[in-house]
Amino acid sequence: MDNLLRFGVSLPKRLLEKFDHFISKHSYKNRSEAIRDIIRQKLLDESWNASKCCCGVISLVYDHHQRNLLDRLTDIQHDDGDIILSSTHIHIDHEHCLEVIIVRGESKRVKRLADNLTAIKGVLHGAFTRAPTGSEFK
Ligand code: NI
Repeated sequence: MDNLLRFGVSLPKRLLEKFDHFISKHSYKNRSEAIRDIIRQKLLDESWNASKCCCGVISLVYDHHQRNLLDRLTDIQHDDGDIILSSTHIHIDHEHCLEVIIVRGESKRVKRLADNLTAIKGVLHGAFTRAPTGSEFK
């Protein structure tokens, strides 16, 4: 890796123990790998800009028996069809479905879409995970 620099970090013992537990739970090879990932995620969160483009994944879990839910879900997705790249639906069990929607577009529209979908009555879980668009790696 080019330009790899080392720096020392001082932590309270208990915090380091918790961090080491986190590292092993998430299968990191070492502390450096974990710290790099955490810093990248923090910088990505920090770089959120409502007017810029972003891409990511909206995931929803819902009870498909909920009245009007499927119509509402479809209407909202058709309204924002230009920022939806793909969606996949799986049937988890008799009542529950998982829908994963890949999106790319103006950040504030993507966020609004995720919020609108998550707010539908009958949606039991809704999450938006933003992915780096590329400039974050430079
Ligand atoms: Ni289903």
